[in-house]
Amino acid sequence: MILYFTATGNSLYAARKLDNVIFSIPQEMQKTDRHYKDDKIGIVCPLFEFEIPPMVKDFIRTSEFETDYFYIIVTFGCHHGGVAPRTQAFLNSIGKSADYINTIIMHDNALIVFDMDEQRSIEAEKQVDKHLEELKADIEAKKHWVQEPDRGEIDFYNNFMDWKKKTGPMYTFPLYRVTDACVSCGTCTRVCPRGCVSLKEGKPVFDDSKCINCMACIQACPTRAIQFASAKEPNPEARYRNPHVSLKDIILSNCQV
Ligand SMILES: Cc1cc2nc3c(=O)[nH]c(=O)nc-3n(C[C@H](O)[C@H](O)[C@H](O)COP(=O)(O)O)c2cc1C
Repeated sequence: MILYFTATGNSLYAARKLDNVIFSIPQEMQKTDRHYKDDKIGIVCPLFEFEIPPMVKDFIRTSEFETDYFYIIVTFGCHHGGVAPRTQAFLNSIGKSADYINTIIMHDNALIVFDMDEQRSIEAEKQVDKHLEELKADIEAKKHWVQEPDRGEIDFYNNFMDWKKKTGPMYTFPLYRVTDACVSCGTCTRVCPRGCVSLKEGKPVFDDSKCINCMACIQACPTRAIQFASAKEPNPEARYRNPHVSLKDIILSNCQV
């Protein structure tokens, strides 16, 4: 069994490749009693600023997992920054532990940093399917392993943390503005895993107090009407969804309305 979180479909694609029984964390979070029992239980989620997303941490903290083999796969776009041992430390701090933690490089959906079209052009080099097969073999063999970061990844993470200390958070609120291109379709309200987008007089309004910057809404807007309010992005016209995942899949995974 896999419990996954996704904003643009990479983690859903990975989850589907790794197991036939998968559940969405945002949907599971609606249940009050969360006890999962299976031979193997996995969490598949994206990397957000070198950590697993806060919603995934909350889910793990507040759920019970009855299994012989608990594992975590983190999808990321360019640098994992040694997330595996940090995730194990987080688990240990809440009295849990994983048997296996690994990462997989996929398309980088961090709009604020990357041009999605450029990312698309280097996707094949990342050999996603080959790496997924390797992860699957490890999991089937119930391999015990927590990925150790090399020096380059540790340095990258430390430099990022130093930079963040100096310049402040990468994302400031209000995060988004809505242009006249908005056609009031409401897609943004349905892809948000936190239920923080609603339509007011036909236009999206954002509850910043609940937003976790996953960017599902800005990525899924069919008319590119959602733009960053102040941050400059490399290509405001380019958006991303994993090519094997439909908009309906993202809505079914995340919809809270
Ligand atoms: C807010 C945010 C922060 C991110 N931080 C990182 C990061 O620190 N390192 C990295 O390599 N990728 C980072 N990414 C890219 C995603 O982890 C990656 O594209 C992931 O596969 C997306 O998964 P999803 O399609 O299931 O949402 C970030 C993306 C977002 C939206």
